[in-house]
Amino acid sequence: MSECEREAARLPMPPMELRQLVGPTEDVAYDNASGERIWGDLVYGPLEPGAAYRRVFDFGCGCGRQARQLLLQKEPPGVYVGVDISRKMIEWCQQHLGRENVTFHYHDVWQPNYAPDNTRRLTLPIRQHGSDFTLINAHSVFTHLLECQTRFYLEEMRAMLAERALLRTTWFFFNRDWFPPLAPHQHCVFLDDQIPTQAVYYDWGFFVDLMHEMGFRILDAWWARTSGYQSLIWLGWGEGFEDNPAVTPPDTVLGFGYSRARHVGTGPYGSELKTTSPQEHDPAAT
Ligand SMILES: C[S@@+](CC[C@H](N)C(=O)[O-])C[C@H]1O[C@@H](n2cnc3c(N)ncnc32)[C@H](O)[C@@H]1O
Repeated sequence: MSECEREAARLPMPPMELRQLVGPTEDVAYDNASGERIWGDLVYGPLEPGAAYRRVFDFGCGCGRQARQLLLQKEPPGVYVGVDISRKMIEWCQQHLGRENVTFHYHDVWQPNYAPDNTRRLTLPIRQHGSDFTLINAHSVFTHLLECQTRFYLEEMRAMLAERALLRTTWFFFNRDWFPPLAPHQHCVFLDDQIPTQAVYYDWGFFVDLMHEMGFRILDAWWARTSGYQSLIWLGWGEGFEDNPAVTPPDTVLGFGYSRARHVGTGPYGSELKTTSPQEHDPAAT
């Protein structure tokens, strides 16, 4: 039995009830059979291969899915800190994955799906959980955060990063051109009127500006493979990172690529509506 197999046998799998809360339920999404670095060598900017894994902060770590994968690496992170608003997921992680230099912390912020019994507030500081992190991971978390929360937590994260560090983040994006009714100060669209944080879509142009305003560089993207799903963005912090001009949304990101918003003339409510009489569109109908 290899050292990786021995470690895998020591680390239990989260129960199905908790896996269902975070999304992926199959074992492979929690495992790391090869023991390789789960996101590759991360040779971005000035970083040496693997250096980013030295100190990892996992924001919205859920039931330890990626913590478990990281701990199964042949070279696990020197320090791992996970934070989540779900008390029961954090308690499971503390009990089953916690050890020296691997800690999990409950974050008492309200969200109606994941933490309906928490104190009714949108943010709480996280910087007390450590500094000098070389990698901050937030997988499927900003996809549930309102703009004010996003700004708050990105600012917290800036205070927690090492001099040169990476952020691994996922987002739902859309092309603002497709939503003319958005006022200049509005940058998000939502799916649900009762629980807006079920899924929050961000205007790509706003996202780029916000990252630059905060001093992050946009290094790389792993775009949504299915239209409208989340995309993964790698951000760099500190000297030696440059924006990657090749990072532009493809047609799986809402409103990009396949078409453009068009102006098609006037209608009874101004320019938004176009008549759809069959005569006009279907010559065979006359
Ligand atoms: C889709 S799950 C992803 C969990 C984990 N990152 C993974 O990939 O397995 C979203 C997680 O974000 C957490 N979350 C939602 N809002 C949060 C907030 N405001 N602060 C911290 N965690 C939050 C939820 O409790 C949940 O565990």
